[in-house]
Formats: sequence, structure tokens, C-alpha cells
Amino acid sequence: MLSYINNILEDRRINKRTLAFGISFVLAAFAITKSSLVQRLKDRIMGSKASCCQSSKVTEIPKIDDSVKVETRGTLNVVYGTTGGNSARLAANLIAEAKKHKYQPKLIHLGDFDATNFVNMDRAIFVISTYGVGGPTSDAQVFYDWISQQSDSKLFSHMKYTVFGLGNSTFENFAGFGVKIDSKLEELGAKRLYPLGKGDAAEDTTDQDFNKWKENLWNVLNEQFSIQETTLKELRKAEAGFQLKMVQGVNELDFDNYTFEEQKIESKLREYFNATNVPVKEIRELRQKPDESSCLHIDFDISSTGFKYDTAGNLGVYPENDYKSIQDFATLQGYSLDDVFVLEPSQERTKLPLPSPMKVSTFLSKFCDLFGPVNKTILQGLADLSGNQQFIADCEKWVSDSQGFEENIREKNHSIFSLSKQYKIRIPLLSLIKISNRIFPRFYTISSSNNSNPKDLHMCISISKVKDPSGTRNGQASSFFTALKSNYSGKRVRIFHQESTFKLPQDKEKPIIMVGPGAGLAPFRAFLQEKQFFEESKQNTQFGETVLYFGCRGKKVDYIYKSDLEDFEKSKVCNKLRLAFSRDGPNKVYVQDLMQEDLELIADLFLNKQGTIYVCGSKAVGESVKEFIINMYQEKEGMVPYLAYSKIAELESEKRIIMEVWG
Ligand SMILES: Cc1cc2nc3c(=O)[nH]c(=O)nc-3n(C[C@H](O)[C@H](O)[C@H](O)COP(=O)(O)OP(=O)(O)OC[C@H]3O[C@@H](n4cnc5c(N)ncnc54)[C@H](O)[C@@H]3O)c2cc1C
Ligand SMILES: Cc1cc2nc3c(=O)[nH]c(=O)nc-3n(C[C@H](O)[C@H](O)[C@H](O)COP(=O)(O)O)c2cc1C
Repeated sequence: MLSYINNILEDRRINKRTLAFGISFVLAAFAITKSSLVQRLKDRIMGSKASCCQSSKVTEIPKIDDSVKVETRGTLNVVYGTTGGNSARLAANLIAEAKKHKYQPKLIHLGDFDATNFVNMDRAIFVISTYGVGGPTSDAQVFYDWISQQSDSKLFSHMKYTVFGLGNSTFENFAGFGVKIDSKLEELGAKRLYPLGKGDAAEDTTDQDFNKWKENLWNVLNEQFSIQETTLKELRKAEAGFQLKMVQGVNELDFDNYTFEEQKIESKLREYFNATNVPVKEIRELRQKPDESSCLHIDFDISSTGFKYDTAGNLGVYPENDYKSIQDFATLQGYSLDDVFVLEPSQERTKLPLPSPMKVSTFLSKFCDLFGPVNKTILQGLADLSGNQQFIADCEKWVSDSQGFEENIREKNHSIFSLSKQYKIRIPLLSLIKISNRIFPRFYTISSSNNSNPKDLHMCISISKVKDPSGTRNGQASSFFTALKSNYSGKRVRIFHQESTFKLPQDKEKPIIMVGPGAGLAPFRAFLQEKQFFEESKQNTQFGETVLYFGCRGKKVDYIYKSDLEDFEKSKVCNKLRLAFSRDGPNKVYVQDLMQEDLELIADLFLNKQGTIYVCGSKAVGESVKEFIINMYQEKEGMVPYLAYSKIAELESEKRIIMEVWG
């Protein structure tokens, strides 16, 4: 919170009204015991003849009396590890709530893991996500390697902790990383203050699960940590700041060839700069009728980049904000896109959030998450700047009232862009850099085989729409690739590889049954390319029978990769291609209807010949396929319903049913 005081004071563009509101809100949140202080501060600032909007000298910033007494429950570390930003968002919500409960919260990114600081922490809430197969996010890998090697049962005997693990229950190790850290900390002597919680992305209930988990969190913590008095000076010691300067006649860094500076820049950007910057070779529309919606084939040229991938693996992609959006935002805020800024640390060891010199346009397009979900910390920051008393009061309320926050902010898909537009919030650039998130990567399933396409990587993306109070817009990556489609020559995109559960069976002679409607076809195109490669290159690989169920609206509407699929069928790479066009005939037909028609065939391939069923696409398709399998066991093997139902988990752990559901 104190950083906002400094933001507000240091930023030269801010107006005086905003300044006064900002400070009163900040200090109120800190429950300063001398109530006249707010007014004194306001008087000093408003009465000052030197305009803080134009001054470039830090010396003109009014000083706050450091000896003022404040109430605090002491430090509370909120530790997070994330790839897609969900853990970061929930951790930031805890930070905002912790301030209301008079803690001095400290947000710690596991990418900044330092063993010495870590073993000295006495209170910590971990909010951590799982990737790979029950493993850590890549930003948490160093921490995970370190803690896995520890065995001293007293190492954390001074620490009190709790863990909230994010995951997806369709994976075998649901929230596996959270589970591991929770038990490892206990094994190393730490005291669990509050039970482990889990958030499930499969059910799209991560935030609800989180809100339910923390219903009693603050009661339990507050009972343990009582309120004490300290001085503002003590609180400020923890503050590490930086300043922003506009510079002229200076070029920005060459970000395409920039090497991440570990010692100088916050770890949040490490994964971005470590990602491979690959040229785009082609972007084309895959739908026959793209007017209602769109599905794009993307081809990256990886030939000169050294980038390696698994057939049907997962690809992380860093999208950018398109030029029109950043132009609109810059106009709204009064920024000049061509301006160049530098960030300077206030202390030598302070890490900066961005490398600089950087153009305003680069920050807005490549780094600033203008459209992503707003967390409670961002909301507080925006309220500080808004000067709108009703909004300030509402935001204050929503920080404690999670239902109010869900209904008014998250479910409306509010973003920094939409809130600043709706409430006419002027956000000084320095404040924007401080309060905004960096843009998080999006995941796609690779739709090519690394053997048949060693120089190219394909993916297929279905364009998503997001409704927010400013109107309906394409999702972040959707809008990025749609804009890139008309002008991709010479453009590059940052990508990284993640292991996926989609792998062909070790025994290739076993049959495979693939179910992938819509963009869920992606991994199966990759599998079929792989099979074709081995068959054509006569590597003596015998493949089992291969059946594909694909579905879409109509043969002449959204039958994506039509010619590829027809060729695979003609050449018998795909032994049976089953197509479900839901809107072409008098009755709606879906992939699960065709599977039911083929019950005898699937029972033979799956039950008798020990085949594997793969499903990719929406959660609804995943559920229907599970239901089909349960019925198959009842009908063909006479299994009682509850046994057939429990068979699913067994088949998943044996990797005979493999699902990747994300819709
Ligand atoms: C492992 C994996 C593989 C995948 N493979 C594919 C694939 O091959 N092809 C494919 O098409 N898709 C795939 N997906 C899905 C794809 O990643 C998502 O559709 C993608 O994230 C959409 O990105 P976007 O930037 O266009 O939309 P986003 O901007 O990320 O919006 C997506 C959703 O996020 C939420 N959201 C956005 N903004 C806000 C806000 N301000 N506040 C609150 N909520 C908000 C909304 O629910 C919105 O509908 C895959 C997903 C995973 C996890
Ligand atoms: C490539 C990939 C691999 C994943 N692996 C697992 C896993 O093994 N177990 C699990 O419970 N969740 C897994 N998940 C789900 C994520 O943990 C979940 O979506 C989480 O909300 C992401 O949090 P983040 O946005 O903070 O990164 C995986 C997600 C992706 C995209």
C-alpha cells in the first residue's frame, strides 16, 4: 500500500484531487492512529505551490511523518508460482485482504527463490499451480529442486503456513505440486495453520474453490497473530521503489535480442525472455465460413531457432495487445506511444519490473496486461487513482466481500482497460507499470508431428470472444493472431514447450480411438502425420487400427483440415474417419452419437484389443465420452454401474483413457 503513496507522489502527471483521494484511501487502509494526519497531509499537498504534476525533482515531494504510529499484525508472506497467471491473481487477492486485516503482506514470486530468505520466513501462505505430471510451474522449479533435497526435520520449525494448490482434476495428480509442498513443509518441521485447499480448473471453479477455502482463513490467522503498534518508518523499510523518467533522443533496447538480466530485472519476465522468438510462416483461416466464428491454422518456422517439440505436445504462446487497442488506451490516458522511458531503482539492489529504455508502445503491446482479469490489488490501485468516491467505497467493500468482487468485477470480465474507460480513471504510466500484470502465456496443442515437420510447428486456434462492460472483444491471443493474420510477414512470436499427456501408446500396434471435435482435432492431426511419416519412411513400424471421431456444425461451414483428413482416410493412415455434422441433417448428430452407433467396433478395439481412447476439446465432450465408456462396460462386460464408474479412474491412471479438456 505504501508503494501507492510513493507512486502517487512521484508521478508527475497526476492531478491534485486524485492525489488527495489516493492518500486518504491508503492511510485509512493502514488504520493510522492519528486521525488528523490525513487532513494534515492533504493540506500540505493541496497547499503546496510547487506542482507535483510538472516537477521532475523528487525533493519537491512532501514528506510523511515517519514517526506516526500504525497498527500491524506483522509481516505475512504470500508465496506464488504460476504460468498462466491464476495463482498470481489469487495471491494478489490475498495481499489486498491481508492489508485490510492489518498485516504487512509481502508478495513473493517463487521465481525469486532465495534459500536464505526462505528458511527465515516465519509465516507464509503458498498459492501454487501444478504443471507437467504433478510437477511445479517452471518459475518454481529451482525452489522445488531445493526443497526436495532437504531432510532436516527442524529446518522450518519456526514457520507457520498453509497451502492452496491450483490444478485440474482431469489430470492424474490433481494439484500435485500443492499437495507435495504441503506435506514436505510439514516433514521439515513447519506448522500447518490452516488445511490445504485445492482449486479445480477442470470445473472452472478455481476462484469459487479459493473463496470457499479461505472462508475461515483470516479468523484462524488473526487468532494467532495479534495487533501491535509500529511506526511508518518501520513499515517503509520494506519498501523498494523505482522511478520513471521520460527520455528523449534515446532508442529503446533491442527486445528481440535482449538477454534477461537476472540481477536487475524481476523474475516475472524470465520465462518471457527465455521463450523462443520464432518467425511466423503462415496464418490462414480453416473454416469454410468464417463469418460467425473463426479458426486459424498457424505455422511457425522453427528451422533456424533450435526449437524442439513433441508431436501433439503443448505450446505456451505469449500474445501481444494489438495496435488498435493500445492506440485506444493511449488516447484515453494521454500517453504518447513513441515516448521512451527509463526505470531507475531507488536502491542499488532493487530489481526492476521491466528492462529499459523502452517505448510506451512496447510496454503496452508486449508486456502490460490491459485486458486480463483484475485482482483485488489492482482494483485497490485503480480506486486510489479514480477520484470517484462511490467507486472507492465499492472497491473497499469488494476487497473483503469476495462475492461482491466476483459479481461486480470478475464475472463482468472487467479489465484495467474496461475499468479505466468506465470510471474515466487516468492512470499515470508509473502507476500502470506498478499495478498491472505482465501478459500471461496461453496454451495450445501442437497439431503437427515433429518427425514429418522438423522445420515447422503447427497449431490450430479457435477464436474466443469475451464480453465485458466495454463491449464484446476477441480474447487476448485470439485478437493477437487475428490481427497478425493480415500482416505476418517478418513477424515473430515467443513460444515455449510444455510436456503433454498426449503420447501415442508405447506399443504402437495397439488400436487408438481419437475423439476431437472442433479445434480438439489438433493433437490427432499430429498423431496421423506421425503415423503417416513412419509408414511412408518404411521404418517397419506396425500401427494398430486408428479411428477418428471429428465433429463440427457443417461440412461447408467449419470442417477444418478437411483435405488432410480425407487424405489420411484415403491412404488408410486413418482406418476409419467418422464425421458428425451437427447442423447438416434433420437431426443433430454429435461425436458421441457416432460412438454409440459404433459400440461393437469400439468394444472390440478398446476392451478386446486393449486400445487407448484419446479425447481433446471441450469439457462436455470429455464427460460424454466417459459416460459412453461407463455404459460400454455395463453393456459389454455386465459390470454394475458403480464399478463401471470407478473403472474410469483406473483406466486414466493406466493411460488407456487420455483427456485434454480445455473448453
Ligand atoms: C493445455 C491446453 C491446450 C489447449 N489447446 C488449444 C488448441 O489447440 N486450440 C484452441 O483453440 N484452444 C486451445 N486451448 C484453449 C486456449 O488456451 C484458450 O481458448 C485460450 O486461452 C484463449 O485465449 P485468448 O487469449 O484468446 O482468450 P482470453 O483472453 O484468455 O480469454 C479466455 C477466457 O478468459 C476469461 N477472461 C478473459 N478476460 C477476462 C477478464 N478481464 N476477467 C475475467 N475473465 C476473463 C474469460 O472466461 C474468457 O472467455 C488449450 C488450453 C489448454 C489449457
Ligand atoms: C500444460 C499444462 C499441464 C498441467 N498439468 C497439470 C497436472 O499435472 N495436474 C494438475 O492438477 N493440473 C495441471 N494443469 C492445470 C493447471 O494447474 C491449472 O490450469 C491452474 O489453474 C493453472 O494455474 P496458473 O494460471 O497459475 O498457471 C496443467 C495445465 C497445463 C496448461
